[in-house]
Amino acid sequence: MSAITFELDGAPVRAENVDPNTTLLHWLRANAKTGTKEGCAEGECGACAIAWRANGPDGSARWEVVNSCLVLMPSVHGRELLTSEGLASRAEGTLHPVQRCLADGGGSQCGYCTPGFVVSLFGEMYRAREGAFDPESIAGNLCRCTGYRPIREAAEKLAVIRDKSRGAPDPFRDRLATPVAPLEASEHTITIGETTRSFARPSTLLDAVAILAREPSRTIVNGGTDVTVEVNQRHKRHDGYLSLEGVRELGQFEDRDDALVIGAGISLAQIEERLHVHAHGPTALGRALPMLGELLPLFSSRLIRTRATFGGNLGTASPIGDGPPALLALDAELVLASHDANTNAITRRIVPLSTYFLGYRKTARAPHELIEAVRIPKPYASLQRFYKVSKRRLDDISSVAGAFAIDRGPDGRVTRARLAFGGVAAVPLRLTEIEQRLLGTRLAASEIEPLAIAASQLVTPIDDHRASARYRKAMVVSLLRKLAFDTTSPSASHGVSP
Ligand SMILES: Cc1cc2nc3c(=O)[nH]c(=O)nc-3n(C[C@H](O)[C@H](O)[C@H](O)COP(=O)(O)OP(=O)(O)OC[C@H]3O[C@@H](n4cnc5c(N)ncnc54)[C@H](O)[C@@H]3O)c2cc1C
Ligand code: FES
Ligand code: FES
Repeated sequence: MSAITFELDGAPVRAENVDPNTTLLHWLRANAKTGTKEGCAEGECGACAIAWRANGPDGSARWEVVNSCLVLMPSVHGRELLTSEGLASRAEGTLHPVQRCLADGGGSQCGYCTPGFVVSLFGEMYRAREGAFDPESIAGNLCRCTGYRPIREAAEKLAVIRDKSRGAPDPFRDRLATPVAPLEASEHTITIGETTRSFARPSTLLDAVAILAREPSRTIVNGGTDVTVEVNQRHKRHDGYLSLEGVRELGQFEDRDDALVIGAGISLAQIEERLHVHAHGPTALGRALPMLGELLPLFSSRLIRTRATFGGNLGTASPIGDGPPALLALDAELVLASHDANTNAITRRIVPLSTYFLGYRKTARAPHELIEAVRIPKPYASLQRFYKVSKRRLDDISSVAGAFAIDRGPDGRVTRARLAFGGVAAVPLRLTEIEQRLLGTRLAASEIEPLAIAASQLVTPIDDHRASARYRKAMVVSLLRKLAFDTTSPSASHGVSP
């Protein structure tokens, strides 16, 4: 297959001879859809937001909003896309209510960010649940001119319009009546001079591992929120991609008796939905795993979380990734899958996350292996905390992250402890020596203090533009103090910086 076919703003499109390294945003703008804007080309501003039809955790369709600057063109094969230009009714000469509310309320000044806000609010307008506007829906959109108030007011007005107009004829809502068919397997190949470039998107795990066994040098891509940033910002060009977004098995989410199994390809936004039901607070699973409930809202914006996965977070193995410390503290294991050529079957091995990180961005995963799933074994620790220190309170990458999972006996003394940090060494780190010394304590401030100082001496952070090594060491002390404070003061804040 060398043509990429999809539906764009209601019309079928056949894109020929597209380099797989081309982003959807660049393709749109090169093909006269310049309403979609480029601000940053790295997922930070939301000016490039587009919507596509996708299924939620319950299998029903919704309009999912993503950053088109981080979507590689072959990923859109078989999808149904909408840009801000496809929302107004040209036949009737009317704006979509989202556009009308923003325009009437003065929510657009220079207008550069407006298409992105329009699409994000469009996604919010067609969400399944009723009720107030969710500010998180525009948390990934930046505006330099309006001061946000008029945008927020327009959004609040829209929530009312949405709930009143349910049941009224609306072509965009009608499209959500049928679930989206699973992505079909596809391969997009193109020859540029002497070079052949290919983007394979299998639909089964067996096909995915077989491709990787034949061509282990292919670049694995899942949500693309790391891979495509490198394409855009570092001008990386890959000749072979293996896209996992169509692989059904990677979308598993199973709450088993012995463990929670999270498929490597399920988006963080969908995991979040399973942990937290809006207006009803955390689900039973969310209450059992508050670590993830604290982590996910701090992980970038919903635009990014709609695409980002734990498979990618652990695949990229960044020492400042947020997933690794939380999953290390929860004693997670990875299921690594590969291809057995003799039997043409999948072989699997389980690797404890504590032995997975070998050095700076080096892991125990062999080139022919895929991360299939993350297993979080039960019983879960009864005390879980995730703290993230970053320059901005929300929508920022960690300078330091601390994740703590602790069990105590009936006398209140610690019987088991896991302390994990990100941003304090070349790898995400568990401080096993301090964990041992924590046993038998009551987590009192006086007991934690010497351990916090000792912990800061065990870490080996670096200076960089985010934080100095000294600051990072100080944060190790602070986060452990905060743990002591939080465990003695239940009303203390969770999650964000000390
Ligand atoms: C604006 C922005 C904000 C961000 N904020 C945060 C943040 O707050 N916290 C944070 O931790 N990260 C953050 N990130 C980084 C990124 O979103 C995460 O690392 C994300 O989890 C990557 O998932 P993905 O599926 O998009 O990965 P991809 O880009 O698809 O892949 C990332 C890497 O993992 C490999 N890979 C992917 N899937 C697999 C698999 N199943 N098996 C083996 N290898 C695999 C790929 O080859 C690649 O090397 C941010 C990124 C952006 C652009
Ligand atoms: S251009 Fe800024 S998020 Fe895509
Ligand atoms: S209106 Fe100018 S950036 Fe938002």
